[in-house]
Amino acid sequence: MKNSKSICAVALFMLLFGLPPAAHAQHQPVDAEGHQWWQHAVVYEIYPRSFADSDNNGFGDLKGIDQHLDYLKQLGIDAIWITPCFPSPQVDFGYDVSDYDAIDPLYGTLSDFDKLVADGKQRHIKVILDFVVNHTSDKHQWFIDSQSSKTSQHRDWYIWRDGKGGDGKSPEGIAQPPNNWLSTFGTPAWTFDAKTNQYYYHYFYPEQPDLNWRNPAVENAMLDVTRFWYKRGVAGFRLDAVDTLYEDPALTDNPPAPGTDKFGRANQIEKYNKKLPEVHDAMRALRKTADEYNSVLIGETWTSNVSQLKDYYGANHDELQMPMDLMMTEFKGLHAQQYRDHIAAVNAAGQWPVYVITNHDIIRSYTRYGDGAHNDDIAKMMAALYLTLRGSAIMYYGEELGMENNDPKSREDVQDPIGKIGWPVEKGRDGERTPMQWTDGPNAGFSKAKPWLPVPASAQTHNVETEAKDPDSMLNFYRKLLAMRHNEPTLLEGDYFPLNNDDPNVLAYLRRYKGEATLVVLNMSATPQKVGFDLAPAGFATPKLTESLNNAHAKTAAGADGLSMQPFGMFIAKVTQ
Ligand code: NOJ
Repeated sequence: MKNSKSICAVALFMLLFGLPPAAHAQHQPVDAEGHQWWQHAVVYEIYPRSFADSDNNGFGDLKGIDQHLDYLKQLGIDAIWITPCFPSPQVDFGYDVSDYDAIDPLYGTLSDFDKLVADGKQRHIKVILDFVVNHTSDKHQWFIDSQSSKTSQHRDWYIWRDGKGGDGKSPEGIAQPPNNWLSTFGTPAWTFDAKTNQYYYHYFYPEQPDLNWRNPAVENAMLDVTRFWYKRGVAGFRLDAVDTLYEDPALTDNPPAPGTDKFGRANQIEKYNKKLPEVHDAMRALRKTADEYNSVLIGETWTSNVSQLKDYYGANHDELQMPMDLMMTEFKGLHAQQYRDHIAAVNAAGQWPVYVITNHDIIRSYTRYGDGAHNDDIAKMMAALYLTLRGSAIMYYGEELGMENNDPKSREDVQDPIGKIGWPVEKGRDGERTPMQWTDGPNAGFSKAKPWLPVPASAQTHNVETEAKDPDSMLNFYRKLLAMRHNEPTLLEGDYFPLNNDDPNVLAYLRRYKGEATLVVLNMSATPQKVGFDLAPAGFATPKLTESLNNAHAKTAAGADGLSMQPFGMFIAKVTQ
């Protein structure tokens, strides 16, 4: 009787309030130090077009991801971030969303998505979606309606303005766009629409009109989108292009800056269309909703200093839990001091860092850092860096294999529109989005059909099947490193204690926790280095070192007078008293 009463109560609750949000129970604080799951997580970014093609049409899909969850589990990641898989004309390969509440048929169905979430849950792999908050596709119903007339319901959901200097009534009378702002994708930022004789604003392609976040209806609609997916069990969102959510309502011209950009246009300081203070209001609203579902927000936060990055956490920790630190991706060359200074500044800021070394918009790290002679060793060393620092890490698919950039050879081969607009200076982002390399067979085992982008020749050696058999491969290195990161308390909880602060070549640090530490030593130079450490100031007067990992070819020898580090050698050891 008692049971049937409570079943009735649950049924009544469901009748009145609908299904309880599925996500709640999954994302509670996890450890003795009060850390949440995402603080120890490695989030694996998947570009769904390029990961695995289950139906052999040349494009990856959700089923393809699902079929490889065991691979990801074995690799040792905690969550996948899937770049946009919503219905889209695919002008910007999904970053032009025409319906936020569905899955693009190219990638599958909502039930494929639900199955992916459920299968991920069984393996303790959470699913994070990419939320394009700044703009929609011009084929979204909101924009179609907005464009239809000046008095349409959604007119004010986007940024429409009269041209400057004209009578505002005829194309001839509209001499110039409303101001001098530029689209970051090499086109003008304003597109004229003859139907209503006004311009609309787009920070990206003309097919990506900017939403007007000053309109409360827009904010409400976007919060509802997040609720739709939270209820389906997503663990959070990566928020796209948050810097550009707001524009100066007075449309003040941006001031000029020296030089020209990669599209040959005069540079300007994006003072009036980027990083406006109101962005933080939107972050707080999105966070409030995320908190209702115990979910996490990652931000695509392009910042030029740590203070800007800190702002994205919110003065009261009420904005993004995980604003990406993308600053290291812009460093030129490998200079220990540059990394040391940056990491010190990030730690001093007192927030939980989120390290990233590459993604679908950035030349792959293997290519960017590689010197042609030590590429694998450098890639392992850089992996050791971003995966042993105090903080969360976001890795890009294929990094664990040493996938390299495969840039188009001619303008005709380019798929990414910015590569066509900016050729040859800007080749676009195809090179970093090539198919995942599963085997050394045709199309790297990604698809039986011709893939939408070609695989590089290096797929012959750098692929899952081949690397799985080689104990010294990048893949096995990543597996060991990720296992260590998840099991070693000093790496999970330890503080960051820099060592040998003046060494121009070798970056070294401890992660200390409860009287133990992990020592990480990275030779960022192409020459052998000898290094010794005085660990007494760090609390280890008589340290004992037990080696945990090095990068096979660049073996490092521990001797009485210190470590002999090979070019780009890395060395990780457990330190006890
Ligand atoms: C940032 C995304 O990462 C990029 O791929 C996209 O083109 C722009 N935002 C526009 O959405």
